[in-house]
Amino acid sequence: MAAHEIGEVLVQPEDLQRRVGELAERITADYAGRSLLLIGVLKGAMFFVSDLMRRLEVDCEVDFMAVASYGSQTSSSGVVRILKDLDGSIEGRDVLIVEDIVDSGLTLSYLLRTLRARDPASLEVCALLTKPERREVDLPIRYVGFEIENRFVVGYGLDHAERFRNLPYVAVLAGH
Ligand code: IMP
Ligand code: MG
Repeated sequence: MAAHEIGEVLVQPEDLQRRVGELAERITADYAGRSLLLIGVLKGAMFFVSDLMRRLEVDCEVDFMAVASYGSQTSSSGVVRILKDLDGSIEGRDVLIVEDIVDSGLTLSYLLRTLRARDPASLEVCALLTKPERREVDLPIRYVGFEIENRFVVGYGLDHAERFRNLPYVAVLAGH
């Protein structure tokens, strides 16, 4: 991995872990006495959902979905294709979508519509990162890790053309 490809670090590993702990505490309190189904959105949310789930103190299960948005590498079109659907039904379940980043919001908006149609008891969103400046649709995001400026970031699961997911921090891609 060439060092010149990675720019400024926006979120350090210890800040990621601290924030994940805070979110887990809120979610644990909000879902006390219920049983929660986490839906990790692959691949970007892989580390986030696994770190978050390990810190939840409520009864919970996890399922995964993989989606691809038609569009260029760095911007989405809102037309979303399901690459991998959930293994199980969400009807009557308390569901929490766990996303890496909400940019325009178009991908999440599609996911919410699709999952709402399957009649969950409740449906909320937990996103590690959001770029409020880029939002094109107004979405109810219950839990947010960090609001970041409008720059393309990689690391802690987030990629650029499938690379850099393994970085332990969130950093700006050089030149973006
Ligand atoms: P949206 O539909 O514009 O909200 O885009 C959402 C998806 O685009 C995310 O789930 C990411 O996979 C990807 N994405 C958006 N911004 C970034 C970024 O800064 N770095 C890496 N992936 C991103
Ligand atoms: Mg991606």
